[in-house]
Amino acid sequence: MGITVAVTGPTGEIGKSTVQALERLADVDQIVGMARRPFDPAEHGWSKTTYQQGDILDRAAVDALVADADVVVHLAFIIMGSREESARVNLEGTRNVFEATVAAARPRRLVYTSSVAAYGYHSDNPVPLTEEVPARGSPEHYYSEQKAACEAALAEITGGSDLEVYVLRPCIVAGPKAPALADAMPWTHLPGPIKRINQILPLLKPPIPDPGIPLQLVHHDDVASAIALSVTTSAPPGAYNIAGDGVVSVGDVVRELGARPVRVPEVAAVVASGIVTRLPFVPSALEWLHVGRTSVVMDTNKAKSQLGWAPKYTAAETLSALAASL
Ligand SMILES: NC(=O)c1ccc[n+]([C@@H]2O[C@H](COP(=O)([O-])OP(=O)(O)OC[C@H]3O[C@@H](n4cnc5c(N)ncnc54)[C@H](OP(=O)(O)O)[C@@H]3O)[C@@H](O)[C@H]2O)c1
Repeated sequence: MGITVAVTGPTGEIGKSTVQALERLADVDQIVGMARRPFDPAEHGWSKTTYQQGDILDRAAVDALVADADVVVHLAFIIMGSREESARVNLEGTRNVFEATVAAARPRRLVYTSSVAAYGYHSDNPVPLTEEVPARGSPEHYYSEQKAACEAALAEITGGSDLEVYVLRPCIVAGPKAPALADAMPWTHLPGPIKRINQILPLLKPPIPDPGIPLQLVHHDDVASAIALSVTTSAPPGAYNIAGDGVVSVGDVVRELGARPVRVPEVAAVVASGIVTRLPFVPSALEWLHVGRTSVVMDTNKAKSQLGWAPKYTAAETLSALAASL
């Protein structure tokens, strides 16, 4: 008899690939996916999966989701949103999932996707970051602050329980089924005729500053395989960094996605980040600027040697796969 896996956020960029990977596991009999908006598992070709409508802010819905699960995979999160709305869903909702899983009798394992952002963008971060580095977050970036707060809540809520807790810290996820990175670039929304003129006359492409910071990328299918491994592995619980091999630059991303990188000194990104930090009111979207101010390249050896994770795509291949899909 196989296991039942409950997944919050099964329709997201990581969620869809995760359910796909779980569907292929012989050890998994059933998958129950909970999101606010409906989806039809059959449309995705999923035969083990059922949909449960629910909001992670609704504790009763979360209790019902986890009650019959052996393993809970928590993916639901607001990534791009206002500081206020994201805090409500991400802090309160995530706490609900952690508390409900500890309180329920059946679940023996919890898999949570945190993020590289949980480490924060600190100039004294070692390069590369290993899992021993504390997840301090950066309060000036709502997402980073919330990811660190969720990890702290996870430790507090599950500490002393028998639950096996796996925390995955992926870098930016991309690929044909994860276009959010491209969607975040304003020029990708230009009308078709203007994009075509830009292709013929490259100098008309929008110039984008490139401070030269190395970036890691990971393919959605590789994150999904790390999550699927965490669901069934006998490797020790704990935190695992997840990133494709190699790095790309902001310039590579900008070029592949159709704009024109203009190299600026690294210090420009630090200065811009410093200015944004001191402004009295900053739109939440602008807080993502802090990501570019320092390297947050992670060491992924622990995931490879202990989880047995073997990413199929490098950072450069992930970027090319995303660009080719646009
Ligand atoms: N994408 C990345 O680059 C990346 C990198 C590192 C870590 N991560 C982390 O990986 C996790 C999954 O990310 P993702 O990219 O798949 O996110 P996503 O594409 O934004 O999808 C979010 C999912 O969560 C669901 N959801 C959102 N709010 C909910 C709520 N209140 N109650 C129930 N379900 C809710 C959404 O469905 P509904 O809206 O229909 O509810 C959707 O299924 C997140 O924790 C994210 O921080 C992502």
